[in-house]
Amino acid sequence: MKTRITELLGIQHPIIQGGMHYVGFAELAAAVSNAGGLGIITGLTQKTASDLAGEIARCRDLTDKPFGVNLTFLPTVSAPDYPAYIDAIIEGGIKIVETAGRNPQEHLPRLKQAGVKIIHKCTSVRHALKAESIGCDAVSVDGFECGGHPGEDDVPNMILLPRAAEALTIPFVASGGMADARSLVAALAMGADGMNMGTRFIATQEAPVHEKVKQAIVAATELDTRLVMRPLRNTERVLNNTAVERLLRKEQTLGDALKFEDIMEEVAGVYPRIMLEGDMDAGAWSCGMVAGLIHDVPTCKELIDRIMAETETLIRKRLECMLAETAIA
Ligand SMILES: Cc1cc2nc3c(=O)[nH]c(=O)nc-3n(C[C@H](O)[C@H](O)[C@H](O)COP(=O)(O)O)c2cc1C
Repeated sequence: MKTRITELLGIQHPIIQGGMHYVGFAELAAAVSNAGGLGIITGLTQKTASDLAGEIARCRDLTDKPFGVNLTFLPTVSAPDYPAYIDAIIEGGIKIVETAGRNPQEHLPRLKQAGVKIIHKCTSVRHALKAESIGCDAVSVDGFECGGHPGEDDVPNMILLPRAAEALTIPFVASGGMADARSLVAALAMGADGMNMGTRFIATQEAPVHEKVKQAIVAATELDTRLVMRPLRNTERVLNNTAVERLLRKEQTLGDALKFEDIMEEVAGVYPRIMLEGDMDAGAWSCGMVAGLIHDVPTCKELIDRIMAETETLIRKRLECMLAETAIA
């Protein structure tokens, strides 16, 4: 399939694996890229810029296809050394960066000078337009259903994607709630040039996370996620568990007095214990409502091949046949 995104990024299929903390390691990024999509290493999961340089090198050993790096500018307890991470990206020959969170403007000149294409992930049309105006090459539009940080506007993709298509000139991919060929065809119909998946890619053979995490996603339904940290205006969609229930009780009890320190136990530094050790109640971890559509743990190639084959069937058989039947009637 050829879209503005496959052309821009030099990839075969319009499918991106979004950056994911403690999931987006070299193994997953390479597997997605080898399958014809765009794999992305999560920059800040690497503790230092030199660790990121090592992870980029490791990924290069696993694939000769394009892959990217995610740089997340979210409120963190202590700000990482972003310029050093950008050095590692440029020196590692990375040509695609997914930015997310705060406005990446101050970092764009260096990245663009090095020929890096920027996909900014954002959750509203106004932020997408801002990204376009500061020179981002594409945006990833993350609807309210997404795993991770959906922002504070709560606009689902059925509205957000057509609004983005009305407003934007640069290409964009649909993100949040994307799982299969139905998602891709719908996203394309709503004006997107491809799709970005997070949660779906965790439940794959190559995702280097504990088996219990994959099984938790397969077992979950669309009713099993919760929104946490809304009172702090840092909303995150996570899979429900005992830590999340405790966190939500604290939010309810403390109300407007809630501070980040009150919920440190449930959110700070919990990812390694969950993703690597499989301690499923260690804290809150991002997961999309799309878990309800995830029923297996395929390889990335099986997943992407299936999506592309079913996409063709959906367009050529289901949609075209409907038109033909209308014509006959
Ligand atoms: C476990 C997990 C961790 C994530 N970590 C990050 C992150 O560090 N930076 C980021 O920009 N997005 C992060 N995301 C968001 C994804 O890149 C993607 O935008 C989102 O998962 C899309 O929604 P979906 O899960 O419904 O596919 C994370 C998502 C998940 C599920």
